[in-house]
Amino acid sequence: MRALCWNGVNDLQVESVSDPEIVNPHDVILKVRASTTCGSDLHFIDGYIPTMKPGDVIGHEFMGEIVEVGSAVERVRKGMRVVVPSFISCGQCWYCQQKLYSLCDNTHPKPELQEPLFGYPTAGIYGYTHAFGGYAGAHAEYVRVPFADIGCFEVPEGVADEAAVFISDAAPTGFMGADFCNVQPGDTVAVWGCGGVGLMAQKSARLLGAERVIGIDRLPERLEAARHHVGSETIDYMATDSVPETLKEMTGGRGPDAVIDAVGMEAHGPGLQYAYDRVKQAMMLETDRGQALREAIRAVRKGGTVSVLGVYGLMDKFPMGLVMNKGLTIRTAQQHGQAYVPRLLEYMQRGELDPSFLATHRMRLADGVRGYDMFKHKTDGCMRVVFTP
Ligand SMILES: NC(=O)c1ccc[n+]([C@@H]2O[C@H](COP(=O)([O-])OP(=O)(O)OC[C@H]3O[C@@H](n4cnc5c(N)ncnc54)[C@H](O)[C@@H]3O)[C@@H](O)[C@H]2O)c1
Ligand SMILES: [Zn+2]
Ligand SMILES: [Zn+2]
Repeated sequence: MRALCWNGVNDLQVESVSDPEIVNPHDVILKVRASTTCGSDLHFIDGYIPTMKPGDVIGHEFMGEIVEVGSAVERVRKGMRVVVPSFISCGQCWYCQQKLYSLCDNTHPKPELQEPLFGYPTAGIYGYTHAFGGYAGAHAEYVRVPFADIGCFEVPEGVADEAAVFISDAAPTGFMGADFCNVQPGDTVAVWGCGGVGLMAQKSARLLGAERVIGIDRLPERLEAARHHVGSETIDYMATDSVPETLKEMTGGRGPDAVIDAVGMEAHGPGLQYAYDRVKQAMMLETDRGQALREAIRAVRKGGTVSVLGVYGLMDKFPMGLVMNKGLTIRTAQQHGQAYVPRLLEYMQRGELDPSFLATHRMRLADGVRGYDMFKHKTDGCMRVVFTP
């Protein structure tokens, strides 16, 4: 089959690879109908997250049709149109039982790659480095889905492929980020980043009852999407001297009740701190440019919540003193998708959530290299590219 493969830093190619096979009786094989790009892919494409190997098939956000079923699969069947969260979870271990699906104890086949750094291995993820399990990704014609009874969710009739594909990752990640904020009536939630994840976090904060949602970015088309599709107020961080000061003014001097970082380790920004991070990142002395997270910690009100969705490695100058003295709560995780997908599909069926506006570009997988180039450089207003094999 044809698949989009990583061959080195900033080197992707569409290649022929062998078809996936059932290796465990709980597996299914999915014929991919749609897959999409994610900001998380950029971190290993750009070389900041190591342990990719040449020839690895990338892509972790996808949906499709089940074409082959392992002998122990019970809940899903051949022919079903399903969406699959990006983290692979067994459904049985202590973590899965606590609904902490991305922390599953049983789906990382190479724990020795994570344990020295993390202490304990996380769950595995499709198409996302050997440090995260080395599973083949979904920018391909077919993909193997382990623990299919836990990982496959039937897409209701009437929900289009290109809306369902975002229930794999962008939407549950955003929803989890808003859920972490424990939104109360009257709350203001500020979200750094108006990419797919940030916009889904903003929409979710609204669904959970936030009175005001403020989106922060610099790209005019994304700020416009935040206003138009979510009803957020917006701040262009390049057009203000200080985002925290602007937020303070907008909230009567108090600051937002909760803040969400949907930017991560490749934040951009004006000023000296950005230049410092850029140089250290380029020299591999830190992996992260932490502008957005530092700003969010400064801007949130005393006693507020900082919800971190952006992916990080090692950051310099993490302002622990602010966290401590302001009495902040930090919540963060890789997405526990399986905990949120049923609820999100219900919102979609009721017409309260339609993430399909994230799909600014549609392409055949054969054009995957061009698609990722557009996504990375955000050319032509690109927010997310949806690929069909
Ligand atoms: N926790 C999870 O499970 C999970 C899942 C998916 C993605 N992520 C992470 O979430 C982050 C966002 O993902 P995405 O797909 O939306 O990425 P994206 O690249 O499409 O969007 C990131 C946005 O952040 C904006 N930005 C950059 N610097 C900023 C700053 N200083 N202030 C405000 N905005 C700034 C960019 O302009 C861009 O619009 C990434 O770090 C990604 O790895 C985490
Ligand atoms: Zn993702
Ligand atoms: Zn588990």
